[in-house]
Amino acid sequence: MTGRFSVSNLGARYGRAVVLHDVALPALRDGEMLGILGPNASGKSTLMRRLTGEMPGPGDILLDGRTQREHGREGWRRAVAAAPQTPPAPSALMPTELMWSTARALGLALSDAELAARIEGIFDELGLGAVALSPLATLSGGKRQLVGLALALVRNPTLLLLDEPTSALDLHWRLAVLDLVRRRLRAQGGLVVAALHDLDLAARYCDRLAVLHEGRVLAAGCPAEVLTPDLLARVYRVEAEVSADPEGRPVVRALRAIDPGKGD
Ligand SMILES: Nc1ncnc2c1ncn2[C@@H]1O[C@H](COP(=O)(O)OP(=O)(O)O)[C@@H](O)[C@H]1O
Ligand SMILES: [Mg+2]
Repeated sequence: MTGRFSVSNLGARYGRAVVLHDVALPALRDGEMLGILGPNASGKSTLMRRLTGEMPGPGDILLDGRTQREHGREGWRRAVAAAPQTPPAPSALMPTELMWSTARALGLALSDAELAARIEGIFDELGLGAVALSPLATLSGGKRQLVGLALALVRNPTLLLLDEPTSALDLHWRLAVLDLVRRRLRAQGGLVVAALHDLDLAARYCDRLAVLHEGRVLAAGCPAEVLTPDLLARVYRVEAEVSADPEGRPVVRALRAIDPGKGD
């Protein structure tokens, strides 16, 4: 096994409905980011819940040479942090309170001064300093999504899981968040798996992609191998042109929806 992280034979079901079938993901080396693509209901969030350990099911999830089970509940909770698709609910709680309680519940071995500095750094990077003491109920959906990300980052995980981390953000913050994630990988290593719905952002920021369709991985590899017109037609039912940017990364231009009557 080369990479630090790999997934194979992964399944998941809700009651009798099987929603992930034999999922394998490209292995990740230190500092790499994997993008999970796929239309609505293809199983991205379910895959994320299998990776966090919230949801049981068959499969092998390996992180640093040990399976999820071998890490144990506590070990996995320390190594892995997720920003779920739904941001923290509007409430009277303030971002600062949530950050402190999250970090202290995890038992992070940091002094108060060290933790305060870490929280301030994260708030600065995410533009949350001005709302650190505002009740979540007064924040926009975008700001609450950034708080959700901050709560994952404060745990400083080995494996960071992001479920559509930019869905509520404007263009500036979409890029800023993904830039921050890449900077973090460069500076301190670690691994990121992110479900993304924007194909161009996925192509630009991810080292590897896996495309889910009806709970199965239809394509996986580096972005240029994965994002082909044929795949986009099969999975997203669009006719698309794929060109390359100056760094050789694919740029997708969707031209039209394929007529369902004529598709398949
Ligand atoms: N809590 C749940 N109970 C039953 N079915 C669910 C539940 N969550 C998701 N599903 C179903 O599982 C499939 C995959 O959903 P999901 O993982 O949320 O996909 P995605 O994140 O790609 O939109 C969908 O058919 C969805 O309806
Ligand atoms: Mg989802």
